[in-house]
Amino acid sequence: MEKKYETPLLDELEKGPWPSFVKEIKKAAVKSEMAADELGQLEKSYRTKRGYWKHGGIVGVLGYGGGVIGRYSSLPGEFPKVAHFHTVRVNQPSGWFYTTKALREICDVWDKYGSGLTNFHGSTGDIILLGTRTENLEAVFAELSSRGWDLGGSGSAMRTPSCCVGPARCEWANIDTLDITYSLTQGFQDELHRPAFPYKFKIKTAGCAVDCVASIARADVSIIGTWKGDIKIDQGEVKKYAKNGMDINAEIVDMCPTECISYDGKELKINNEDCNRCMHCIAKMTKALKPGDEKGATILLGSKAPIVVGSMMSWVIVPFMKLEPPYTELKDLIRKMLEWWDENGKPRERIGELIERIGMRSFLEYVGLPPVPQMVKEPRRDPFYFWAESDLK
Ligand code: HEM
Ligand code: HEM
Ligand code: SF4
Ligand code: SF4
Repeated sequence: MEKKYETPLLDELEKGPWPSFVKEIKKAAVKSEMAADELGQLEKSYRTKRGYWKHGGIVGVLGYGGGVIGRYSSLPGEFPKVAHFHTVRVNQPSGWFYTTKALREICDVWDKYGSGLTNFHGSTGDIILLGTRTENLEAVFAELSSRGWDLGGSGSAMRTPSCCVGPARCEWANIDTLDITYSLTQGFQDELHRPAFPYKFKIKTAGCAVDCVASIARADVSIIGTWKGDIKIDQGEVKKYAKNGMDINAEIVDMCPTECISYDGKELKINNEDCNRCMHCIAKMTKALKPGDEKGATILLGSKAPIVVGSMMSWVIVPFMKLEPPYTELKDLIRKMLEWWDENGKPRERIGELIERIGMRSFLEYVGLPPVPQMVKEPRRDPFYFWAESDLK
């Protein structure tokens, strides 16, 4: 296909050493008129400093309330090929593992019905297929689902759960993040596909506190692998780190947030009672230090990015939960949270904001968790649990 538009402003974005989305859209535009018009419209946006995408109505596939995000151009006369430009969210496999065959199949479907443009992956975790027309949606869905794919969540629904690669590739995983995520995805199918909540609800699972999925900042429910008991120390390996030039006092002892490590030049000691399982020392001295044997997860609640009010981080609501299939305790707890939020939340109010508005006591009473000191959100702030008259003896 011949080049349809001159794009001097977008061309600037191809300069520099890093990959450029402009380069990729141009490649797609060789085959796809949609991608070509998308370039044209984008160039115009850069020129006029105005956006031309409309949030658009309800589009989707039969039987699903979400999974497709409707978008239209507000300049359909000028850029007819992007008059519709809907995004299809496809539920990714846990930990984002694919065979090349699976990737080729997805791309073939998308070349056939869409712009050919994809985003691996959206911040929700899903495979994002960018740009198709309303009348193509059923065909896309039929082709994808016949190959075993399903749509992800969108709108006021459970969003597609996601996790770090966990035990598949990482020795620090304290929990099977992949299995947990798969099990939650299957367990909450109805909530995923039929939006019925006040707003979005995200679950992300990390195998340890390094938190490679940034669950603590991006998920209403953050599940973070941890352990009970003492960190295992191999003093022989500690010596090797020292011999190989590691400044153990500067890099480990002084960096421990709870100041619970000491090192006298020979032996490394940890006061495990004070350790908050931050993973710093283990991540730095992988060969010398290992988590304790009793594995489980800390469950945290409430993070979100700003929409109306500022961003929030998740905070602890269950310090330690054993997580074994079929994860009944976890699923029951999440169901209770959803019920409480559904009953009390205002439209577009995330569960963390609701807790800030009406208080922790109502939440804990409803879900049946006892208030514990680990729930204190951060130092130098009032513990936000207030006892009821009836609690006082
Ligand atoms: C001239 C004397 C003092 C001044 C000006 C003072 C001032 C302060 C200030 C500004 C804070 C920080 C509040 C915050 O971050 O929200 C604080 C915290 C605190 N003060 Fe004092 N203080 C004084 C004496 C004392 C004494 C004598 C005690 C105990 C016997 C005490 C116990 C505390 C405690 C327990 C905290 C809370 C610490 C924390 O949350 O980490 N203070 N004080
Ligand atoms: C009628 C008596 C008192 C009243 C009305 C009172 C009121 C308050 C209030 C409103 C705060 C701020 C709490 C917040 O962070 O929101 C506070 C903080 C504090 N009060 Fe009192 N107080 C009284 C007596 C005392 C006494 C007798 C002590 C110590 C012996 C004390 C020690 C402190 C300390 C250390 C803080 C700082 C806590 C922090 O910032 O973390 N107060 N007080
Ligand atoms: S969060 Fe922890 S377990 Fe998961 S990949 Fe990162 S380091 Fe490994
Ligand atoms: S895990 Fe973190 S808090 Fe615990 S000993 Fe290591 S550095 Fe300190």
